[in-house]
Amino acid sequence: MSLLEIHDLRKRYGAVDALKGVSLAVERGEFFGLLGPNGAGKSTTINILLGLILADSGTIRIFGEDFATRQTAIRRRMNVAAAFTSLSGVLTVRENLKVYGGIYGVNNLNAKIDELLERFEITDLANRKLQYLSSGQHTRVTLCKGLINDPELLLLDECTLGLDPDIAEKTRRALQEFQREKLTTIIFTSHNMNEVEELCGRIAFLSKGEILRIDTAARIKGLIPQQILEVRFQPGEDLEAVRHLDGGFSPQHTGDSTFRFVLDEPETQLDAIMQRLVQTGARIADLQMTRPTLEDVFIKVARGEI
Ligand SMILES: Nc1ncnc2c1ncn2[C@@H]1O[C@H](COP(=O)(O)OP(=O)(O)O)[C@@H](O)[C@H]1O
Ligand SMILES: [Mg+2]
Repeated sequence: MSLLEIHDLRKRYGAVDALKGVSLAVERGEFFGLLGPNGAGKSTTINILLGLILADSGTIRIFGEDFATRQTAIRRRMNVAAAFTSLSGVLTVRENLKVYGGIYGVNNLNAKIDELLERFEITDLANRKLQYLSSGQHTRVTLCKGLINDPELLLLDECTLGLDPDIAEKTRRALQEFQREKLTTIIFTSHNMNEVEELCGRIAFLSKGEILRIDTAARIKGLIPQQILEVRFQPGEDLEAVRHLDGGFSPQHTGDSTFRFVLDEPETQLDAIMQRLVQTGARIADLQMTRPTLEDVFIKVARGEI
């Protein structure tokens, strides 16, 4: 039994098909990514899981129970942190977290709040009113709110929005640590491919309300096996032999002394190319292999090219 099972979830807003039959299963302890461009249906999925909006059809089971009939009990074991999470501007950080801790009946609440503030490095903001925080500070308070009840299932909807790169990196570390310690199951939505790749074990590609593919980042990237090898030679080298390299490699001459090889099967071709390049006697100054990014694959999958 999976911790979360969604089957054939559908949601329509007037003429917009926001979800066209989404099915997925997430296991306990997974850091699971929901990745897709704006409008893909990520927030709609999350909001249905939170009971904020009703699906038109489909079934959801969480912790082995039917979400439609057991929602109140299920939601006590979940939590959310999202860009839209509303905290009170006139209350301090600690007061806000006390309100949410109270809702979930958290024991030793003050100590829990201290632990979370420390994790996200905002201890010094405890007594500051929310309205005076920067968006990056606000985002981190939102994450503390999401973790206040040690949820078994945590939904994070674009939760790193507004963080500068340094804080975003620290925040990702803190989230990863929390997840590993508590074995929290996390559903993480973002349109930031690099972030999802770094954090998530498995990723669901969502586009226009449909799941296109679910797999690990490595296997998803493997859908484009092609890699590019760029070789720059020392200035003044005779490059005629490189231009006419045998083995059917036809390189493109892209710069003064730079050549580009497109490798359809890098594992077998790379070694052969390197040996032939050495045989030409031309001295190499620099070389670089470019692998496809998650974004490259996403674009191709969304266009139906793979
Ligand atoms: N309350 C709403 N009324 C009408 N259309 C909506 C509403 N909420 C979302 N949509 C539409 O549903 C689609 C999916 O939106 P959303 O789930 O917010 O996508 P994402 O979070 O992936 O950016 C979009 O086309 C969006 O415009
Ligand atoms: Mg969204």
